[in-house]
Amino acid sequence: MKSSVCNIPNIETKESNIHPHQGFITRDKRNQELGHQSGVVWLTGLSGSGKSTIANQVERMLFQQGYTVSILDGDTLRSGLNQDLDFTKEARAENLRRTGEVASLFSKTGHIVLASFISPHHKGREIVRDIIGDNFHLVHIDANLDDCITRDPKGLYKKAMFGGIENFTGVGQDYEKPDSVDLIVNTSDNSIAECTMQLVTFVKSQFAL
Ligand code: ADX
Repeated sequence: MKSSVCNIPNIETKESNIHPHQGFITRDKRNQELGHQSGVVWLTGLSGSGKSTIANQVERMLFQQGYTVSILDGDTLRSGLNQDLDFTKEARAENLRRTGEVASLFSKTGHIVLASFISPHHKGREIVRDIIGDNFHLVHIDANLDDCITRDPKGLYKKAMFGGIENFTGVGQDYEKPDSVDLIVNTSDNSIAECTMQLVTFVKSQFAL
């Protein structure tokens, strides 16, 4: 990790001097107005498994049907808010903690958030589950590592296998398969269109009022 994440004030200071803002418009009012519940669908899976592709298709389809939906994507967050973080286990946990906080804010303002992050470790996924609380749904975008290596849409597996990327998931660092998920979307055996429909159906059922 390039920068320290240790200068976080201790809990006692936070509790005594920080007063989170409570607005007049509750989450429930927003949900009633928008016509659906809000929350977070967290897509975990290997690089090349299809997380971003499916998130984009699902977002488009739901938006066209009147849903308030947004995407938070690992590469995008790492280009701004999280650009100081690398890919050690500790930095990945911090990447997810910050993103979990952002996703939580979005969901409180009525959005269905599709969060697309490799999130390879049990610990990081538990951190975001704890931050978000209710209406957190963990979805495994599941593809064989061999398929991801064959697809290699960004050429990163090839680069990692030749020693060009440290800690690359599936090559220099493990992906811990989640053992407690709300949905598995298998992109090795199903088309993108089928996977998109599977996730759209899931989101609609989970976020109905
Ligand atoms: S996570 O593990 O912290 O959840 P995140 O989803 O934000 O990862 O970022 C993954 C993206 O970063 C990949 O899509 C890939 O483009 C890029 N990347 C660069 N280096 C690595 C690496 N060592 N391991 C995995 N992805 C990497």
